[in-house]
Amino acid sequence: MERVISGIRPTGNLHLGNYFGAVKSFVKMQDEYDCMFFIADWHSLTTHPTPENIRKSVKTILSEYLACGIDPEKAPIYVQSDVKQVLELYLYLNMNAYLGELERVTSFKEKVRKQPDNVNAGLLTYPCLMAADILMHKADKVPVGKDQEQNMEMARLFARRFNRIYNVDYFKEPASFYFAHKAVKVPGLDGTGKMGKSEGNCLYLCDDEKTVTKKIMRAVTDQGPTQLNQEKPEVIQNLFTLCELICGKDAAEYYNDLYNNMQIRYGDMKKQMAADANALLAPIRERILAYSSDDALLDRIMRQGAEKAAARAEKTIEEVREIIGFRKV
Ligand code: TYM
Repeated sequence: MERVISGIRPTGNLHLGNYFGAVKSFVKMQDEYDCMFFIADWHSLTTHPTPENIRKSVKTILSEYLACGIDPEKAPIYVQSDVKQVLELYLYLNMNAYLGELERVTSFKEKVRKQPDNVNAGLLTYPCLMAADILMHKADKVPVGKDQEQNMEMARLFARRFNRIYNVDYFKEPASFYFAHKAVKVPGLDGTGKMGKSEGNCLYLCDDEKTVTKKIMRAVTDQGPTQLNQEKPEVIQNLFTLCELICGKDAAEYYNDLYNNMQIRYGDMKKQMAADANALLAPIRERILAYSSDDALLDRIMRQGAEKAAARAEKTIEEVREIIGFRKV
């Protein structure tokens, strides 16, 4: 059976970008593939969270994963830092990654721009750690959103390079996987760019009904089209993208026709988006509350996930050590 791995950094709550970009695919894939999902807490260290932050965020993300429908019996969930073998593979991959190519990664360049006082080495080698997460499991498919495409290319590059350097056919090249058949970039409610925690433009899975409605009703729009079949400006295109994700293709087409006929009323479209978002989120919200108060269950899931992931990781590391020329330990 094909193997699937994917992870999310525990920095705050899951938002609709995470959900439509990745988690929705996870949930669908767990029935058809050999899946594992993890919480990328090592990756979150690039922003120097406090110990309290980390503990809380890991629990939060785990509760939210479960609330979205990931079933740990089908798809074990583990915390990245529980599987120490990943660090060893990270080190090996670092030795074969070159400064120039790491500096050219778009998300690194963005971080340099956004947080010039904290350009740490972990940021630079972020793609190596991500590749270690993936290659460790010899994953065939990795469900991710569009923003992870470049990191996925790096993972494939590192797999090929390792094979070439050691003259083996060991690591497979993992494919990005999108349930919607194309990569999703979920836009933010401010009409620009992508939905993201640091952008402050998110709809969170745990937002209550009033907050969801308020955020959607306030989403940025314009005065409306002034010509028939007018091309949509970016903010409006983004609203339509969100509408299609939340309400489905038919609803988006209906509003698209109204737009083309210059009869669109953004308020009506937003009302439907708010109602459908609340219908989607209400049961998730309820389950988040239930799971997040059950520490014993969360601990058990993390422990069992870690055991399964570590067993697989140990096998990979033994093989990799042998390929590289290290003694068996
Ligand atoms: P992270 O934590 O930023 O995001 C987690 C997942 O959510 C998707 N996502 C989005 N998709 C579409 N539109 C958006 N606006 C949006 N915002 C977030 C991301 O594409 C991602 O799939 N580097 C990863 C975590 C990671 C990982 C891995 C993923 C570490 N190791 C190995 C896969 C495999 C990250 O920072 O995702």
